[in-house]
Amino acid sequence: MYKMPEPNISIIVALAQNYAIGKNNDLLWHIGDDLRRFKQLTTGHTVIMGRRTFDSLPKRPLPNRRNIVITHDTAYTCPGAEVFHSLNAALDAVRGEEETFVIGGAEIYRQFLPFAKRLYLTWVYADFDADVYFPTIDMSTFRQISITPRMTDEKSGLEYAYAELDRIPQR
Ligand SMILES: NC(=O)c1ccc[n+]([C@@H]2O[C@H](COP(=O)([O-])OP(=O)(O)OC[C@H]3O[C@@H](n4cnc5c(N)ncnc54)[C@H](OP(=O)(O)O)[C@@H]3O)[C@@H](O)[C@H]2O)c1
Repeated sequence: MYKMPEPNISIIVALAQNYAIGKNNDLLWHIGDDLRRFKQLTTGHTVIMGRRTFDSLPKRPLPNRRNIVITHDTAYTCPGAEVFHSLNAALDAVRGEEETFVIGGAEIYRQFLPFAKRLYLTWVYADFDADVYFPTIDMSTFRQISITPRMTDEKSGLEYAYAELDRIPQR
């Protein structure tokens, strides 16, 4: 019998030591190298995001990517983006894709984390005052497969590193 392919969901996020990711519907820092890495990893793939994150983008939709926006608002449209009204509808729309990136924000990360097979984390080694946070990562379900040495962003002076975590396969 034909079995529908599983969505291959990866999460990409930049988070502070205290899991802070945003404030006033904006990012907490601008690290040029991290933005370039985000573009490099996601270009050519589908990006899924919440309506608030989509609204916060300086340039939307994100070019050279299939943009999926999730909202409850059935009247919401944006040229160049596909709009879905539930998590399941978005998951169904990306079945069979090689890799799909969930790019935030907090509400969307929380709901997609149980489906994520890979996490691309940018750890920013500072605590930030924020109004949105990444959910706690259960380290019994993910294992870290790589982490870079700490780097320093020259403009902000912030220290950061890239880590990749994979979901541990179920026995
Ligand atoms: N540090 C990072 O890597 C990073 C990445 C991305 C975003 N951020 C930050 O995160 C913040 C935004 O996060 P957020 O949690 O406020 O908003 P969000 O997750 O971007 O979007 C939330 C919106 O998504 C829609 N939504 C959520 N779940 C839904 C569901 N199950 N069905 C239908 N619609 C659903 C709703 O839109 P409607 O209200 O239209 O119904 C909801 O208001 C900003 O500060 C942004 O800068 C940080």
